[in-house]
Amino acid sequence: MTMTQDEMKQAVARAAIDYVTAGEIIGVGTGSTANFFIDELGKVKDRIRGAVASSEATADRLRSHGIQVMDLNEVEALSVYIDGADEITLQGAMIKGGGAALTREKIVASVARQFVCIADGSKLVKTLGKFPLPVEVIPMAEASVARSLKALGGEPRLRVKDGTTVVTDNGCSIIDVHGLEIVDPVALEAQINNIVGVVTVGLFAQRGANIGLLGTADGVKRMT
Ligand code: 5RP
Repeated sequence: MTMTQDEMKQAVARAAIDYVTAGEIIGVGTGSTANFFIDELGKVKDRIRGAVASSEATADRLRSHGIQVMDLNEVEALSVYIDGADEITLQGAMIKGGGAALTREKIVASVARQFVCIADGSKLVKTLGKFPLPVEVIPMAEASVARSLKALGGEPRLRVKDGTTVVTDNGCSIIDVHGLEIVDPVALEAQINNIVGVVTVGLFAQRGANIGLLGTADGVKRMT
């Protein structure tokens, strides 16, 4: 029997519950796979002290399950950060930000001892870059950052939805960079971080995933 992409996402979301350590505060990502995980977490919510959310949407969904949402400034460490990805390599480098939450995702992940990436098998790639690379930018720098990204060989496009520029939870814009073949994700992450006006680049390579759980037709596979 073939599994749909959503069924694979649900399967990895269920498997990720094994990485939720009792009595701890955990970090929770954003997107459809993270949403499936939140729904699973709701079933065992008494196991954890609370969660730090990587977006307003995630905070709302956690609260809807009666899970306490904590401010990152009140938390010293997170045992684990669980989130999806738009692309992931076998080494655990990722492109994230398809849901425009990349900045808070990177911040919350940075405080976690382990990053567990949950994704359906279609997200596994040899080389990152087929999925347009999201870059969150300060709105007044959209044009200047776009020029710098073009100079790196990409095709930058301001993210627009339903005719309006997408605004992130931080009040910023997203530029999606098409046509990149990212052979050295660690170096490119540093290079794009250095462009003035960039808030965050959706390359998660300097700190990639420690563990990858991939949903496949043959069940959930652990990558690392
Ligand atoms: C949001 C993200 C998501 O993790 C990424 O877009 C994957 O989303 P989905 O689980 O819906 O496939 O980075 O900013």
